[in-house]
Amino acid sequence: MLTTISNLKDHVGKEVTIRGWMFNKRGNGKLYFLQLRDGSGMTQGVLEAAKVDPQTAENAEKLTAESSVKVTGIVNKHPKQEGVYELGVTKIEIVHLTTEEYPISKKDHGIDFLLDQRHLWLRSSKQWAIQRVRNTIINATYEYLNDNGFIKIDAPILTPNACEGTTELFDIDYFDEGKAYLSQSGQLYIEAAIFSVGKCFDFGPVFRAEKSKTRRHLTEFWMMDAEAAFAEHDDNIKTQEELVCHIVKKVLEKNMQELTILERNIEPLKKIEAPFIRKTHEEVVKELREMGSDIQPNHDLGADDETMLTQKYDKPIFVEKYPSEVKAFYMKRDPKDPTRVLCADLLAPEGYGEIIGGSQREDDYDTLLKRIQDHKLPVKEFQWYLDLRKFGSVPHSGFGYGLERLVTWICGQEHIRTSIPFPRTIYRLTP
Ligand code: 4AD
Ligand code: MG
Repeated sequence: MLTTISNLKDHVGKEVTIRGWMFNKRGNGKLYFLQLRDGSGMTQGVLEAAKVDPQTAENAEKLTAESSVKVTGIVNKHPKQEGVYELGVTKIEIVHLTTEEYPISKKDHGIDFLLDQRHLWLRSSKQWAIQRVRNTIINATYEYLNDNGFIKIDAPILTPNACEGTTELFDIDYFDEGKAYLSQSGQLYIEAAIFSVGKCFDFGPVFRAEKSKTRRHLTEFWMMDAEAAFAEHDDNIKTQEELVCHIVKKVLEKNMQELTILERNIEPLKKIEAPFIRKTHEEVVKELREMGSDIQPNHDLGADDETMLTQKYDKPIFVEKYPSEVKAFYMKRDPKDPTRVLCADLLAPEGYGEIIGGSQREDDYDTLLKRIQDHKLPVKEFQWYLDLRKFGSVPHSGFGYGLERLVTWICGQEHIRTSIPFPRTIYRLTP
């Protein structure tokens, strides 16, 4: 019977066939231990040459790392390890025999070599585990948003204007229209869509021509922007809290095997529950200065500030109400202190830093027009966005998460580059 490694538990004592790849082999002419993977999991096949047909014994002998195979065997429960199942191999069919030496061996490779081999490196167990967690995060996001009335609205990638600041835009020549830009966030477009569907989200690749070389920056990454009509700053925070809790819960439910492979300490993840910590930018600046940072009252938090602050806490932290001059043009001023905006960045604990940026949006036509002018943005290209404040304007808020930032944090990775299948950074465009 054909099955997958993840389903071996349902076939103990029975003969099954799995299809996949052999990634390691130990043994001599008599007894072989084959490490097998099929995408759903990993298992060991034990083969005794005397007990199988001559062709299978020959196949076992000549099998090389990363050859593809169909392996038939009897499922055995591991005598000591709980939840581990092995195959007592009865038959091996080789689908493709790898004849070249596989470039990724067990010895320590440098990160640049591994990234050059990303198309092959993705097969390694830790990389496999990260992609599986990423998949859970994506699905948990859809699940939470769909269950809470958010409709998926796809925002365009080619846009005539900037969403997040003009210094980080990738531009291309767009026929007779002049310059087009690769989207930095679908936010402005899903703001338009809330006037149709009430609550919505987008989820897709976005681009930042950032010259940053930090462990947190990619030039192409996946963002989920969510937006809701009539939602104010506090409602926005509540949605983010619930979404992040739901995501972490789902990963803990579905990916214990992957987290174990990644050697992720899950204790901090188990503590992720609402309410998260909330601090104003003013409070955080004071706290950081006491910790030795030279951050100024009207500064954005630097990467080191985020690391220092979030290492102190075991829960995510909302940093609210930044000075307006360090934030985007569309954020609404705090009526209690117009030098600040009704925004919050959500910082992940354990030194990870920003995973979400969000705010209440400016909903008054004249104020928004002034903001656009103050930021020296082309009013003409933003006229459609201004129109939204002309026809039934409402208070509204939203936020955007960086998928790879979440993956990096939840998987406990050092650097963001392994959280996306094929990373794009200033120095890397291939494979
Ligand atoms: O904070 P950002 O720039 O916010 C926006 O783009 C808003 N328009 C979102 C919204 O309100 N709908 O980006 C949102 C998130 C950040 O919090 C971070 O997690 C991630 O996107 N991010 C990056 N991830 C990887 N590489 C980069 N260069 C990133 N820049 C932002
Ligand atoms: Mg931000």
